[in-house]
Amino acid sequence: MSVPTILVVDDDAGIRTVVRQALLRAGYAVRTTDSAAGMWKLIEDDVGDILITDVLLPDANGLDMIPLVSAKRPNLPIIVMSAQNTLSTAVRATEQGAFDYLPKPFDLNELIRSVHSAIESSNAAVPPPAPAEQGEQLPMIGRSAAMQEVYRTLARVVPTDLTVMVLGESGTGKELVARALHDLGPRRTGPFVAINMAAIPRELIETELFGHERGAFTGAAMRSTGRFEQAQGGTLFLDEIGDMPMDAQTRLLRVLQSGEFTTVGGTRSLKADVRIVAATHKDLRRLIDSGLFREDLYYRLNVVPIRLPPLRGRREDIPELARHFLDRAASEGLPRKMLDASAIAWLMEQTWPGNVRELENAMRRLAALARDDVVSAAVAELWTMHAEGGSQVSAAKLPDTPLAASTSLEAVIGHWLRHHVAQSDAVPADGLYERLLAEFERPLLETALILTRGNQLKAAKLLGVNRNTLRKMLTDRGVEPTAGRRGSPG
Ligand SMILES: Nc1ncnc2c1ncn2[C@@H]1O[C@H](COP(=O)(O)OP(=O)(O)OP(=O)(O)O)[C@@H](O)[C@H]1O
Ligand SMILES: [Mg+2]
Repeated sequence: MSVPTILVVDDDAGIRTVVRQALLRAGYAVRTTDSAAGMWKLIEDDVGDILITDVLLPDANGLDMIPLVSAKRPNLPIIVMSAQNTLSTAVRATEQGAFDYLPKPFDLNELIRSVHSAIESSNAAVPPPAPAEQGEQLPMIGRSAAMQEVYRTLARVVPTDLTVMVLGESGTGKELVARALHDLGPRRTGPFVAINMAAIPRELIETELFGHERGAFTGAAMRSTGRFEQAQGGTLFLDEIGDMPMDAQTRLLRVLQSGEFTTVGGTRSLKADVRIVAATHKDLRRLIDSGLFREDLYYRLNVVPIRLPPLRGRREDIPELARHFLDRAASEGLPRKMLDASAIAWLMEQTWPGNVRELENAMRRLAALARDDVVSAAVAELWTMHAEGGSQVSAAKLPDTPLAASTSLEAVIGHWLRHHVAQSDAVPADGLYERLLAEFERPLLETALILTRGNQLKAAKLLGVNRNTLRKMLTDRGVEPTAGRRGSPG
């Protein structure tokens, strides 16, 4: 067999040279061109065995060219390289039928590996690209190298039914990834059903998952469908899988092995046509070692792990994220705020133990409460260090507001209002009542969870609200339901 020829399309002469040299060293023949027109000429002349193309070409978009190229040369593997390092680029490249996607800057060894495997696969049949349906902005922000890894894996598993395990600290975007897997994949027309193991009383998990027959247990007056049944044809998101009780784990394992499930108290087997995505912030290996998680279930679920980096591990994404959340707050009707350079630098220095969610809440608080349109570091610090043990910092920063612990809540609120709202030169933005309620409810909910060690039933009782109301309040206020488990009373 003759030496394979690789076509390299990029308008950047530097990239063309580097890639060309690497490919020559690896023993390939190379043809380069700097435009889509040049590429098309080579394609029509039937030149080349692999195409490597940039996305932003001077005369066309490389991704848009893929279907044309594939129509003309169905067996030509295409590798896309791009500095447009968004999830959307990664997914679109895959959707259009690209063999691989390499975010720039890439490792040349990685490029060569990708070319090798493209050559190997080019004899095998190339699957037809999924129908492209594009345009909508995808919800994941961040172009750091750490997120590029995530996007690449996501793009690869989106078209499949493989079980995905999303790992990462609290607030890193695990649920967002689960939704992206559903929304971008072939099951997107089916339902997305989520179940959070940590939010459901342990004794109810099995019936929640699998449903129950009428009379299956005391109180089961009617047949109920479980999440497995509700998710038929779609995606089932098993959130906080580390909190699943052992019995339910055994049952789930059986379902995953057989592809069928029965309702509690039922005898009929139903086919489980669901794609499973699981998530946890816990260390499942540790749970396995302490006998709290089944190892066989772990292997069933951990087919493709996606590990989300903590925010402090991708600080370069903080400015874009912060702006995104401020934009969103503005589109929800809060005053539009901008960050000056000192504020951005300050945000980037923080460790964000609550990750993206903490940053999101901080930006919402800033939008609601900061006085000036352009926010400086000092102001960002004042309104940002509120949650996650930062309240002392914030209290210490409040100028001339000495407060004794014995001061009544009413006095504190009155003082606060006069200080921060009434004294501002402008009339505060509309919706003050709701903003103040949020300020009041969040610490209240957090404290209730801490006092009850994260037990929502007890927290609801303590507050005197119904459990569903509590759950809704936690979601609305962005309070992590597991907040109390880490803390201790006192
Ligand atoms: N890359 C991102 N771009 C934009 N928004 C993000 C990103 N990652 C997370 N978010 C936002 O941060 C918040 C927390 O994300 P999400 O609920 O997916 O985290 P999680 O890992 O499931 O957290 P937990 O472990 O607490 O359940 C959400 O409002 C989500 O929209
Ligand atoms: Mg979550």
